[in-house]
Amino acid sequence: MGKKMRESWGSRLGIIMAVAGSAVGLGNFLRFPVQAVKNGGGAFMIPYFVALLLVGIPLMWVEWSIGRYGGGFEHSSAPGVFHSLWEKNRFIKYFGVIGIFGPLVIMIYYTYIESWTLAYSFFSITGKYSSITDQAVMQSFLRGFQGLERNEFFSSIRPAYLFFIVTFAVNMFVLKNGIKGGIEKFCKVALPTLLFFGIILAVRVLSLGAPDPSRPEWNVVNGLGYLWNPDFSELKNAGVWLAATGQIFFTLSVGIGVILTYASYLKKADDVTLSGLTAVSMNETAEVVIGSSLVIPAAFVFFGPMMIGQVADSGAFNLGFVTMPLIFSRMPWSEFLGFLWFALLFLAGVTSSVSLSQPAIAFLEDEFDISRSRAVAIFGTVTFFLCHGAIFFLGKGVVDELDFWGGTFCLVLFATVEVILFGWVFGINKAWEETHHGADMKIPVIYKYIIKYITPLFLMAVLAAWFFQEWLPIICMENVPEADRNHIIATRTGLWIIFLVLAVLVKIAWKKRKVKGKPL
Ligand code: ALA
Repeated sequence: MGKKMRESWGSRLGIIMAVAGSAVGLGNFLRFPVQAVKNGGGAFMIPYFVALLLVGIPLMWVEWSIGRYGGGFEHSSAPGVFHSLWEKNRFIKYFGVIGIFGPLVIMIYYTYIESWTLAYSFFSITGKYSSITDQAVMQSFLRGFQGLERNEFFSSIRPAYLFFIVTFAVNMFVLKNGIKGGIEKFCKVALPTLLFFGIILAVRVLSLGAPDPSRPEWNVVNGLGYLWNPDFSELKNAGVWLAATGQIFFTLSVGIGVILTYASYLKKADDVTLSGLTAVSMNETAEVVIGSSLVIPAAFVFFGPMMIGQVADSGAFNLGFVTMPLIFSRMPWSEFLGFLWFALLFLAGVTSSVSLSQPAIAFLEDEFDISRSRAVAIFGTVTFFLCHGAIFFLGKGVVDELDFWGGTFCLVLFATVEVILFGWVFGINKAWEETHHGADMKIPVIYKYIIKYITPLFLMAVLAAWFFQEWLPIICMENVPEADRNHIIATRTGLWIIFLVLAVLVKIAWKKRKVKGKPL
């Protein structure tokens, strides 16, 4: 036994809420509608559900199982968890570094975007933008807030910076209070609250009918049809499959390294099968029921089927911070509705960003035997400093770069490693038994074969497609404007440094364990 008592969840509902809280995030309400519209609405939903069944749900079960297994060896982050699955291999722990690196990189920009939602809830309720009715003016309001109106950077960034500090402090406060007293307690209140706000907004949007009498076809039913009328014509397009798989990863928080960390605080007798599936169901309800009833039908009835594509092409930020406030401004109680929208995003953001922070904190606690408060203090100091890259160089493509490596590439790579490790190295029969230990639900046996063959093949196909279609242009920065290249090179160098530092820390931690005679 370690010197410290290992933390654990207070209740089964607690971990389900925490995992669902990690999954339900900005991805459900901002990223999902953009991806769905950009990839053809009804054409997107078929690959989306296929990826959910063949990749999302199996990976959820894999991460819950390996996390609980690694927790039995007092490991709560991927290097240790991977090592406990393949003890004989000296290198596997270094693959596990991706499971700390990825979430840390996402956390760096995610927390900053989350802070905008706090700022905008405040702006909504105080009516700060209520007089704006024009898209271009609203856009310029956002750019001003982000400090992107060049000549007044330092004075205009001040409010954004203030809200960032508050948001960062809220995250650290929740984290400092631990698994049960912080994360679980917060998610148990935040998740139902945000779902309640989402339901109010969805009911409001669904009762809009056709607000423009001169265009009766711009109505809610057609808006829903835009997403839900299946379109089989795009199934041959690899890009749509990649986008749908990417969305499944991001939205479920699988392949990141956070679910296995949360599951490591379970006890061996705790169920992982039904709990994992419940967390998936909650996330999908938030995404495809509530999320899809909000942004897409609202944008459809006010902008029509032609404009909705342009709105989505202008990106998730414009949709959330420009289009949605403008849509609410055309309804009674606009300030209150705007507040609900941004408060929902803020709560969804915090329940996710704390989960993104937890793997690094757990790594410091477990592998270096330091107290939670100290681990949070070290993590907070380092990441506070790192977040400034996203804050000050937002307009230079830094956030997109972090999102690509941390939020897309690493996810697929990490998921491929963990599923092969579990299904092939640990062995599918042992894995199946491990997953069903204390299970409240028997997983259909077909999933034994899906986990062993289909999920890894699917992931390798995605990686291969990326490699052939996008690798070279990305490495050579072909799509990066000349003016941003130095920032992208600096970001990539920074990412390598972070990765190497984490790898060195893993090496030191294992040396220490050996010296202390602890089980490796
Ligand atoms: N799963 C989280 C989201 O959807 C990261 O935002």
